[in-house]
Amino acid sequence: MKATDFLEKQHKEVMKLFKQAEKSEEPKARKRLMTEIVAHLKVHTTIEEEIFYPAVCGIGTEKVEDMMLEAVEEHHVVDLILAELPTVDPAADTFEAKMTVLRELIEHHVEEEQEEIFPMAEKKLGKERIAELGEQLEQRAEVLEAKAA
Ligand SMILES: [Fe+2]
Ligand SMILES: [Fe+2]
Repeated sequence: MKATDFLEKQHKEVMKLFKQAEKSEEPKARKRLMTEIVAHLKVHTTIEEEIFYPAVCGIGTEKVEDMMLEAVEEHHVVDLILAELPTVDPAADTFEAKMTVLRELIEHHVEEEQEEIFPMAEKKLGKERIAELGEQLEQRAEVLEAKAA
């Protein structure tokens, strides 16, 4: 699978989990979905930062470098919220508020990736490299998921 398709697939999966979490009234179910979201996002941001972002940075223009620095900072803010979430009571109002802020942050980040970074990566890196990166991402995701399980 193309690297960009694989990452988009993961974006969709995580947004689906957010929708389910927002619909669920029951604290236990919310907590379970939150745990799933945290796990998904950790794998996703890790493989992007280990494999995809460095490849994109390799394109080497200043604009690309700035975009990637911004993306990494957004991952950093996501990490801060992820670290906090497990300590929040899923029955509390603050839990919902934190999940909403996290979802909005992710939505914004995903939009920038899908609208700007991915099309540029496809154009500049070429079909073969994107396919090769896709395979690396899939393999690394499998290893990380197995570790987390
Ligand atoms: Fe990202
Ligand atoms: Fe992403």
